[in-house]
Amino acid sequence: MEIDYAADPGAVEPGILAYAVFDPVVDPPLAPEVRELVAPEEIRGDSGQTVVVHTGPGRRVVLAGAGRRADADADSLRDAAAAVARLRAAAEIAWVLDDTLPLTPAEQARAVVDGLVLGGYDPGKWKTTGERRALPERLVLVGGDEAAAAAARRAERVAAAANRARDLSNRPPNDLTPARLADRAAELAGAHATVTSEALGPDEIEALGMGAFAAVGRASRQPPRLIVLRHEPPDPVDGIVLGLVGKAITFDTGGISLKSRDGMEDMKGDMSGGGAVIEGLGVIAELGIPVRTLAVVAAAENAIGGDAFRPGDILTAMNGTTIEVVDTDAEGRLVLADALWYARMHGATHLVDFATLTGAIERALGDLYSGVMGNDDAWRDRVVAAGNASGDHAWPLPLHRRYRRLIDSSFADVKNLSARALAVPLYAASFLEEFVGEGPWAHIDLAGPAFLRVSRGDYLSQQGGTGYGVRLIAELAEGLAR
Ligand code: BES
Ligand code: MN
Ligand code: ZN
Repeated sequence: MEIDYAADPGAVEPGILAYAVFDPVVDPPLAPEVRELVAPEEIRGDSGQTVVVHTGPGRRVVLAGAGRRADADADSLRDAAAAVARLRAAAEIAWVLDDTLPLTPAEQARAVVDGLVLGGYDPGKWKTTGERRALPERLVLVGGDEAAAAAARRAERVAAAANRARDLSNRPPNDLTPARLADRAAELAGAHATVTSEALGPDEIEALGMGAFAAVGRASRQPPRLIVLRHEPPDPVDGIVLGLVGKAITFDTGGISLKSRDGMEDMKGDMSGGGAVIEGLGVIAELGIPVRTLAVVAAAENAIGGDAFRPGDILTAMNGTTIEVVDTDAEGRLVLADALWYARMHGATHLVDFATLTGAIERALGDLYSGVMGNDDAWRDRVVAAGNASGDHAWPLPLHRRYRRLIDSSFADVKNLSARALAVPLYAASFLEEFVGEGPWAHIDLAGPAFLRVSRGDYLSQQGGTGYGVRLIAELAEGLAR
């Protein structure tokens, strides 16, 4: 999407001139030409509603409802812009910025781009009939300046990366195998001079001593991959290697602790954390952010077969910790155990993992917020703040050392399921903590917001992958570069 700015609406010749209308509607923001053509009661600020006004030959104004004025924030503008994108009425959109809002022009520009690019996403890539939806080709920020345009251009790259992560989440599990996910990582390395990629197969995973990761991937005909991506900028900030770790279960059957059939098709999205990490590193490189970054993605299919790992098995992770398997459906923490340790051993100073780890986090926080836990409150809060500033809503949860006791095993160092069905996301985090080594680590359980079973009704209205995590990663890395 090409992005420009213009001083006033008269200076642009767009397909559409759009702006957000809040409730209660105030006068102006309505251009005089609109006021003559629409009755005041036709204009309402209801979020997601649009009114299209034909103001002249080939000239239309779209009034995009943005909800209550008292609640005006970046999300209101994202919703309004998404409604305009969904009209698909023109390839060029001029968006009128509003100086009465509590958001700077740059913040507004950024939110509008999020709404247009994420809201305009089309998940129906496998449909053979009907027309596929295209995103707008050009955006003119009316009343904007160079700073607003720069913010919008950056946001456009990040949102496009989030849409690529959605493509990965939505690709069916018979297509997106661990090896194909590794192909995407290799493609990024080919596209950016600062990026290199590696993909280790089952023999190398075993040889590294990754007994937990290897066990999960063993029953599938599709062999696992440990995907390692590095971004080495020419002039990096000192003393920081951002370690991004992702769970990428390309399909989670639950293994021998088989899942029930309802909604099992959504388990193609169990690689969304890994997808976000891969596209997140890609956009860090694309934006030239001077932070050394190491991404480690554990990609495997949790399948069933004669060679499947079983409840009762005791596995030895790369760091030497022994794990009693109680439930083969608690596989995410097993693959992350080895990926986290690997990232730390390869120099990550600040770790964050992204994982669709527990259904319980979705029951607790719904499809809007991820839950963030960690071993260092300052780092966890930084991750949470980056999420909220970027549009990827995140909420902190406690991780007290006393949670550790419920993953004590009678036979091994730990077990992969807590003894009681309490605080499931926290016990999972408590398990992961055994494998993070020394230094700050945060764990993002994104099982709620990463993959939507049903539309959320906001700018991310499409079923399936949301690209959750990509915007957070870009924001976090930019913060570290400052
Ligand atoms: N991939 C699932 C978690 C999940 C559930 C993601 C729903 C997205 C939507 C994970 O591997 C899993 O099966 N977790 C178990 C953990 C339990 C066995 C402790 C769960 O949530 O039931
Ligand atoms: Mn599972
Ligand atoms: Zn899973």
